[in-house]
Amino acid sequence: MSEPVYQRWDVSQRRQHQFLMVCCFVLIFTGLPLRFAHQRGVAEAVGVIGGATVAGVLHRIAAAGLIWSAIWHVLYLLRRRRRRNLSTSMVPRVKDLLDARDTLVWLVRDEAPHPLYDRYNFIEKFEYWAMMWGTVIMIITGLVLWFPVAAARWVDGLGLQLAKVIHGYEAVLAAVSILLWHMYHAHLRADVFPMNWMWLTGSLTATEMRHHHPLELERLEQAAAAADEAPPTPAPEDTEHGSPSPQAEADSPTGGGAAPAPGGVQPPPEPGLDAGPGGAGGQAGEPAGSTDSEGGHA
Ligand code: HEM
Repeated sequence: MSEPVYQRWDVSQRRQHQFLMVCCFVLIFTGLPLRFAHQRGVAEAVGVIGGATVAGVLHRIAAAGLIWSAIWHVLYLLRRRRRRNLSTSMVPRVKDLLDARDTLVWLVRDEAPHPLYDRYNFIEKFEYWAMMWGTVIMIITGLVLWFPVAAARWVDGLGLQLAKVIHGYEAVLAAVSILLWHMYHAHLRADVFPMNWMWLTGSLTATEMRHHHPLELERLEQAAAAADEAPPTPAPEDTEHGSPSPQAEADSPTGGGAAPAPGGVQPPPEPGLDAGPGGAGGQAGEPAGSTDSEGGHA
C-alpha cells in the first residue's frame, strides 16, 4: 500500500509559481548582462541570444509577465478572502524567531533537537515576503527605466539615476536569492535533492510532511481522525478544482483538514496566503482545518 499524499498547493498556486519562475529566470539572464555589459565575455555571451537589443526586448516582455504575476497573485488572495478561506499561514509569528534561533543551535550542537516546523517555516516565509517587496521595488524602478519621459513628471534627474542604481543592485540581490538561496533550500539540499516536486504536483508524501512540516501533518492527521468519527456530511462543491472535494472544507477557516487517503492524494486544503508559491497552512496553535494548502508569491 502506498503512503498517503497531502495536497498543499492548488492548481492556481502551481501555475503562479511556474509562471513566476519563467519570468524571473528571463529577467535575471537578460538583465544582468545589461548591468555588467562592460565585463569581459558578457558581450559575447549575450550575443548568443542576438545581442543587447534583443536582451532588452526579452527583458521588457518578462517584466510585463512579472507585473501580471503580481496582479494574478493579488487577485488570487482577494478571491480567497472573499471566500473566507484566506490562510494566515504565511504571516510571520514569534515562533518563526524561535525556530530560527533553534535551527542555528541545531546546526552547531550535535545533541540539540531540530525545531518542528509548521506549514511554512521561517525560511519560506522570509523568501515569500522578500519576493513581495523585491517585486514591488523592481516594478517601480523598472517602470521608471522603461518610461523615463513619463516618470520625469514625478522624479527629477537624481531620481532617474537612483532608480537605475536601485534596480541594478536589487537585481543582483534577487539573482543571488533565487539562484543560490531558494534553489538550495527548496531543491538542492541533501534531504530534498534532486528536487522538491511540489511546484509541479502540488503535493508531498506523508514521509516528506513528517520531515519538513511535522506540525502541519499532526494537525491534518488529527482533523482526519476527527472527521472519521463525525457523522458523514455532504461534501461542498469545489468549483475551483472542477469537482466536489473534501479539500474545500479542509481549506476553510472552519473546515477540518485533509483526511489522508492511503494511496491517494489527500484532500488538498486550498492555498492561502500561502499563495506563496508559498503555500498555506495553519501555524502551530491554529485550529485544525485552518491549514490550507499552498504558498508563494507573486
Ligand atoms: C526579477 C526582476 C528583475 C531583474 C532581476 C532585473 C534586472 C535588471 C538589470 C540587472 C538591469 C540592468 C540595470 C543597469 O543597467 O544598471 C535591468 C534593466 C532594465 N529593467 Fe529590469 N529587472 C527585473 C525586473 C524588471 C521589471 C519588473 C521591469 C519593468 C517593469 C524592468 C525593466 C527594466 C528596463 C526597462 C531596463 C533597461 C533595459 C535596457 O537598458 O534596455 N525590469 N533589469
